[in-house]
Amino acid sequence: MSTDPQMTAERVRGPVIQVRGLAKAYKELHVLRGVDVEVARGSIFALLGSNGAGKTTVVRILSTLLKPDAGTATVNGFDVATQAARVRESISLTGQFAAVDEILSGRENLVLVARLRHLRDPGGIADELLARFALTDAGTRRVSTYSGGMRRRLDIAMSLIGDPPVIFLDEPTTGLDPQARLEVWQAVRELARQGTTVLLTTQYLDEAEQLADRIAILHQGRIIANGTLPELKRLLPPAKVEYVEKQPTLEDVFLAIVGDDGTDSTAGAASPAGTKNRGTR
Ligand SMILES: Nc1ncnc2c1ncn2[C@@H]1O[C@H](COP(=O)(O)OP(=O)(O)OP(=O)(O)O)[C@@H](O)[C@H]1O
Ligand SMILES: [Mg+2]
Repeated sequence: MSTDPQMTAERVRGPVIQVRGLAKAYKELHVLRGVDVEVARGSIFALLGSNGAGKTTVVRILSTLLKPDAGTATVNGFDVATQAARVRESISLTGQFAAVDEILSGRENLVLVARLRHLRDPGGIADELLARFALTDAGTRRVSTYSGGMRRRLDIAMSLIGDPPVIFLDEPTTGLDPQARLEVWQAVRELARQGTTVLLTTQYLDEAEQLADRIAILHQGRIIANGTLPELKRLLPPAKVEYVEKQPTLEDVFLAIVGDDGTDSTAGAASPAGTKNRGTR
């Protein structure tokens, strides 16, 4: 950490992630063509884009795994190009595919990471995280017996060891069933509530809508829209008033039938269509 008080204050006050003119090409494929983004400290920021839009490329650059061709990026006040080690101390990355060890138990995975980070009381840290992510009962079971949602939660729990101020979640719920998605959403909200900045990528519009304080849409190498959900909605002409019979969405039906033991039963029912009409037909 810098001892210059002005720099330290700047680090606390300014945006925790600042990206300017980021460009990256793979041979002649220009994936990023000048990406500008700022993320406020303690917020949940969603980077939305279709397959191949370049979301993972942005996350890899911000987490110092990949060098940009042009542009600058700072994370927690540190430059990804010149202060990579400082950036790595400030972040954790949960990749698009879960990185947990199948043979170990959930608890053993957590203890292992805490040991690797030279933290005191790895067992205590593991137990606290198991409780926080509703994995205490499954904690001593091998991860190979976990469901996709449990693995994802364990993966996110592992990335929190050492309390990094910024976490990157690359498509945290891709491939999960609706109930597991709700559980992961709940975990992400909890992170932000405790002050962690979360940058997540997603191709699910509802995920961005449910979770994010701000949403940026990455398309053809640039951010083509960036704002809060109400700001983005204002980009479209005002809605026409029409009277239609609202039907529950398939997600409403699925969750109603399967039962939603997720910790936040209201989260999944927040989609406007149908929830008030459940059972009318
Ligand atoms: N190492 C690489 N070499 C060549 N092309 C690559 C490489 N990595 C990514 N690409 C290409 O760059 C583009 C952007 O990839 P990226 O993984 O960033 O997209 P994404 O938005 O994360 O997509 P998805 O939603 O499928 O995860 C894709 O067309 C991909 O094929
Ligand atoms: Mg990706």
